[in-house]
Amino acid sequence: MLRSVLNMFTGRPTLCVFDLTTRCNSRCSMCSIWKRREKEMTFDEIDRVFSDLRRFGIHTIFLQGGEPLVRKDVYEVIKTLDKKGFRTVVLTNGILLNEKALERLDNLNSSGRISVTVSLDTLDRKKYLKIRGVDKLDTVMKNIKLLSGYPGLRGGVHATITSINYMELEDIHNLVSKLGLEFTFNTYNDIKNYASSSDRNLHLGRKMDAAIKEMEKLKKKMPLIYRPFIDDNIRYLRGENIGQCDAFENSFRVTSEGMLSPCLEFPPVYDLKKHDINRNWKEWKDKMQCAIRRCYTRTPCFYGCTRGTGSVKKRPTFAFLGMMHTIK
Ligand SMILES: C[S@@+](CC[C@H](N)C(=O)[O-])C[C@H]1O[C@@H](n2cnc3c(N)ncnc32)[C@H](O)[C@@H]1O
Ligand code: SF4
Ligand code: SF4
Repeated sequence: MLRSVLNMFTGRPTLCVFDLTTRCNSRCSMCSIWKRREKEMTFDEIDRVFSDLRRFGIHTIFLQGGEPLVRKDVYEVIKTLDKKGFRTVVLTNGILLNEKALERLDNLNSSGRISVTVSLDTLDRKKYLKIRGVDKLDTVMKNIKLLSGYPGLRGGVHATITSINYMELEDIHNLVSKLGLEFTFNTYNDIKNYASSSDRNLHLGRKMDAAIKEMEKLKKKMPLIYRPFIDDNIRYLRGENIGQCDAFENSFRVTSEGMLSPCLEFPPVYDLKKHDINRNWKEWKDKMQCAIRRCYTRTPCFYGCTRGTGSVKKRPTFAFLGMMHTIK
């Protein structure tokens, strides 16, 4: 814990995005992870790599993918992450988040550090199929309602805003709030890179101003701690310089193979199975810094995982709230 708090002030990440697998039961046109066939670390490799990451000062894991729930030993993985003291946020498309899955997650959560966020971009079945490539809205809605029956899992819903769903933001927010779940969102990054994929039909384009209006309206209803992120997201959409991203500063990504990369869009660079991050961090950061700076000054992306912490930290009042959140 002390190490994580120290990291917050010394430019060492506290958040790790972990692609447990690249396999997925959806086919989103905005995402290219499901097209990758990457190897997966064994359970023992995960156990070892994440022991190193805990010593390094990582506080929170976004357990995602691909779809984390397609991996058979996902519950063992969550259990071992929890035992090491991480706060684990399971980010899922919700298709496999049935009663049995929720029961297992809830049973694992004696620490109260495990939470679950489901991606939901629309309440319209046709749009869901267009965005996610599978006809699963009814299943996901049913599972989100089930999730609301497990308050210990501090359930949330996350929407990715595109040209075809921005007008639904408030409706999704209202529905999610009624269920007692937390609502978060960020905008679609229309780039063809390591994790994302370009779909011009979802690109905000001429709908940008209308989408910004919806975001501004909703900002007033969002929890205080989340507002700096929305502000920066809006400024990003307006083309303003929002400064340094969180890559290798507040967060990084670990691929299913156990490779470290600065963010979702950078190709993997260092093998955490072979090298202990605690011994190599300074050298790795020095080597990558220029490439990251070149990238973020052109701000080709705005992701929650590589903007959220930074948006909070650069505003002193919110930074204090953020630190209290970490200590909690
Ligand atoms: C890559 S998915 C992995 C976890 C899980 N499969 C899911 O969909 O929630 C994590 C989040 O990234 C979002 N996402 C995927 N491609 C994106 C893109 N190009 N821009 C912004 N967000 C994106 C998804 O909508 C989802 O909320
Ligand atoms: S966004 Fe999530 S659900 Fe969609 S294809 Fe990518 S990993 Fe799968
Ligand atoms: S701006 Fe930052 S988070 Fe985005 S692709 Fe570049 S380095 Fe990664």
